[in-house]
Amino acid sequence: MMSTRRAFLATSTAVIFLPKISLAQTPIILRASVGMQHIGPEGFPDTEIWRYDGNVPGPAIRVKQGERITREFLNELPQGSSVHWHGIRIDNKMDGVVGLTQDAVPTGDTFLYNFVAPDAGTYWYHPHNRTWEQMARGLYGPIIVEEATPPEIDRDEVFLIDDWRLTREGEIEESFGPSMDWSHGGRSGNWVTINGRAPTDHRVQHNERLRLRLVNVSNARIYSLALTGLEGWIIALDGQPLEAPVQMEHLVLAPAQRADLILDVTAAGGEDGALTMQNGDDVYTLARFRVAGTVRPVRMAMPDALAPNPVPALGNLETAKSVDLHMEGGAMGRMQGAMLDGQMKTMQELVENDLFWAFNGTAGMPKEPLLTAKLGETVRIKIINDTSFPHAMHLHGFHFRTIAKDNSQGPLRDTILVERGEVTEIAFVADNLGDWLLHCHMLEHTAAGMLTWLKVI
Ligand code: C2O
Ligand code: CU
Repeated sequence: MMSTRRAFLATSTAVIFLPKISLAQTPIILRASVGMQHIGPEGFPDTEIWRYDGNVPGPAIRVKQGERITREFLNELPQGSSVHWHGIRIDNKMDGVVGLTQDAVPTGDTFLYNFVAPDAGTYWYHPHNRTWEQMARGLYGPIIVEEATPPEIDRDEVFLIDDWRLTREGEIEESFGPSMDWSHGGRSGNWVTINGRAPTDHRVQHNERLRLRLVNVSNARIYSLALTGLEGWIIALDGQPLEAPVQMEHLVLAPAQRADLILDVTAAGGEDGALTMQNGDDVYTLARFRVAGTVRPVRMAMPDALAPNPVPALGNLETAKSVDLHMEGGAMGRMQGAMLDGQMKTMQELVENDLFWAFNGTAGMPKEPLLTAKLGETVRIKIINDTSFPHAMHLHGFHFRTIAKDNSQGPLRDTILVERGEVTEIAFVADNLGDWLLHCHMLEHTAAGMLTWLKVI
């Protein structure tokens, strides 16, 4: 103290060189609670939902690339919860995974999340405790990390697409425990919302350019999406820019996946455009775009690719550490049994423990990680889907690329749909220390055994 003071006095008379102390800032609170909202079809009563900050979806968290996000999570739900920041390459302690990176935040308690968002793009947040129930009740919100040089657009919209299972009374159907859903395709709803509301109309102008950020926040539904009256490109998947924009024809969006679209309204004034989903033979309108007037006489030029995020390039794939992830179980599967807590169990015994699926012969979270990687090492995981269902595999903490047989690399993703019978190989650079979850994002499948973890040391 004295020596600092003396040094200060000796070197300066008028200018103060001491660092400024910022007044202690109270962090922004993110409050999860129970409430009512009109989410159902017209004429339905309000539905009791769980939400962040009084609304489904929760507030959009918008920062510039490289900025810090600080939120004090306040849990006013009737059960423990946490927040996972899906797709953010985050400090492991902030990943929000109950049972791996933190304990559940009890009712009435708080947890301070504080991390940097290194990548621009579209991300989202949701609980990571009893996720199959908490997300189905409405807990999710978007994270927008803005590019240093964003593309030229007229309007930026986020669509969080959810399906709800509602009763005729407009209540959330409460069958959250283990059920047929857990051994089949997961919980699918009977009512689809965009941003927690019934599909609505959007007023647009001819030749207007939209950036549409689509996020599949459903428990288990895979959407097959298409457009009419709007034309454009996919510019990013799971937050990460594509090397070149890809003409948007039709888009499959698995649970947790995102797509950033740049779309021009090509329908003429007085006409309608639409975002549609195909369900079996039926086509439903998720958003109707009513065109009135013209914003410019001709369409804008094709957009440039977005600048890449600072994700490290893959190292030598020939010498990379490589493991298999054999997925089995579920209805119509061949699994006879699997390990549980270090003991071999029959299928019947697994079912008694509400487990229906296994990774590499272990049902549920294994004691040992799928693999241990050294910091900076390139890792390959061959995912073998030996089940009768598709699975949306999500890796925490990293974006990976699919690796084809000839070693050619696909775009960066954090969630990949692996069709039944399919083998998909992924690779990534393990450049982030800690324990990272790898699981199926069909949330009933996670609950029923489809999860494992990796360790980076
Ligand atoms: Cu979207 Cu394990 O999370
Ligand atoms: Cu699955």
